[in-house]
Formats: sequence, structure tokens, C-alpha cells
Amino acid sequence: MSRLTYVNGKYHEYKDSLVHIEDRGYQFADGVYEVFGIINKKIVDYEGHINRLFRSLKEIRISSPINKSSYYFHIKKLIKINRIVDGLVYLQITRGVAERDFKFPVKTKPSLVMIAKSISKKTYEDNFNKGIKIKTIKDLRWKRVDIKTINLLAPVLAKQEAAEHSCQEAWLIDEDGFITEGSSSTAWILKKNILYTTPLSNSILNGITRQTLIKGLNKKKLKLIEKKFNMKDIKDADEAFITSATQYVMPVIRVDNLKIGNGKIGKYANLFRKAYMEAVKLS
Ligand code: PDD
Repeated sequence: MSRLTYVNGKYHEYKDSLVHIEDRGYQFADGVYEVFGIINKKIVDYEGHINRLFRSLKEIRISSPINKSSYYFHIKKLIKINRIVDGLVYLQITRGVAERDFKFPVKTKPSLVMIAKSISKKTYEDNFNKGIKIKTIKDLRWKRVDIKTINLLAPVLAKQEAAEHSCQEAWLIDEDGFITEGSSSTAWILKKNILYTTPLSNSILNGITRQTLIKGLNKKKLKLIEKKFNMKDIKDADEAFITSATQYVMPVIRVDNLKIGNGKIGKYANLFRKAYMEAVKLS
């Protein structure tokens, strides 16, 4: 079956999906993106992701090339024509194509691309049952990571270093020794039946999965504190997790050389996943 993408208003074969060499995303990382999870052919928390996309665009002063309802139409269409059951849709908007100049171009139309990808449920289940390992790495990102920009060199290097240590994710450490978040996920630890995650600021992305899990926890009256944590807290943690649009709720069994709990996924892992799945909106 051929794979189809969306590029600036048209559907293309994957291999023919091209952008210009002077696209500002390519030259300056001058753009933003979103990742939408797909469960059973439906978009996960569409409203949250699309609202965050519009916020990211506003923060870097790009106007959306299409209206809000058109995004939904094209994402649904990509799911359908690519026969995605479970997976993701990656969406990227850049300031467009113009001769290289740091200042904003005057009449350039933003570029918009969307790619759909299948990810088998089994891959997620297998990872969930094993749990993942984390490597901590200095947070070298810029100061506005609350905006979901395509400027991802620091996370790329962090994730690569983690992989070279047989870890699936990197947790980023700020100047004061606190974990900000994962290189592409939100970080959580559980200590004495209380869940901790970093409070919102410009130093982390406001995860849509984070928001939905918090809603789910509130419904189940599970205790959450939004408070920074460091390696000492991780040493005392009974369980740990990451969340993201592609990992949903994923248990962590090791952080650097520290085994979390008994080194296997803990009893809260399923509870939190259930709380999340019950709170999620599919459309
Ligand atoms: N990353 N923090 C960072 C730095 C992220 O890149 C992501 C998501 C998250 C979690 O956000 P959400 O729950 O809305 O997916 C937190 C996506 C999945 C990615 O870059 O592939």
C-alpha cells in the first residue's frame, strides 16, 4: 500500500514529499510542530493539541496557513487513506520559503506538512510491560521550551546519548540539579503514594498527556503534587513514569544506576494508565 502525506495543500506519495532547500525550517528551525496520537483510528485529545499548536504559532508570530477546522479534516483524511489504526500524525509548520535572511520574510506563506505513521499496539504493550530506562543529561535547551518548536538539537543529542547507554529516554537536569522533563516527554516520580511532576513554566512543555493524566488522577482521587524533583528524590522513589503523545503512560524501571522500586514495573503503572485512558478524549 502506498503511503500518503500532506504537503502545502496537496496529498503526495511519501517518496515525492518534498520541501524547498530555502525553507526556513531547514535553515533556521523557524517553525513549530505537534504530534497527535491515534488510537483505534481516532485522534487523541485533538482539542488540546490543536490549541497548543495555535499557541506555539502565536508565540513565534506565524499565522496559520489554514483554518482550525481544516486541520481536523486533513488529519482524519490521512488516518483514513493510510489505514492507520494505532499510531501518530506528525504536523509541522514553518515560516515558509524565502532567501536566507534572519528577519521575517514579508510575503512568504508558511509551509505545512503532515505525516501519518502506524505504530502497533503490541510495541507499546511490550514496552509498557518491560518498562524503560532513563539516562540523566544536562538540560542544554533554549529558555522557551514551552513553545513546541522544531529547534530540537539538544533533545536529539540527549536522546542519542541515552541510546548509547541502552536507555530509551533522557531526563534533563537544570542548573540546580532538578529534572525539568524528558527529551520528548513529561517526567514523573511516585513517592509514598504521591505522584510528583515539575510545575509548568517556560522551562517545560505543557504536555497534553500530562493535562489528561492529571484530570484522570483527580477523578480517581489519586494524590498529585506539582513540585520539582532531583536525584535524591529519585533515589527514594517507589515508581517513575514518562508521558507523551506517543508513549501515553510509560513506566520507568531505572534512572542512571538507580533501580526504581524493585526494578520491575510497579503497581501504580496500570492504575495510572487506566486513569489516563479513561480521561482521554478520542475524536
Ligand atoms: N514530544 N516534553 C517534551 C520536551 C516533548 O517533546 C513532549 C512531546 C512532551 C509531552 O507532550 P505531549 O504529552 O503533549 O505529547 C513533553 C513529542 C511526542 C515528540 O516530540 O515526538
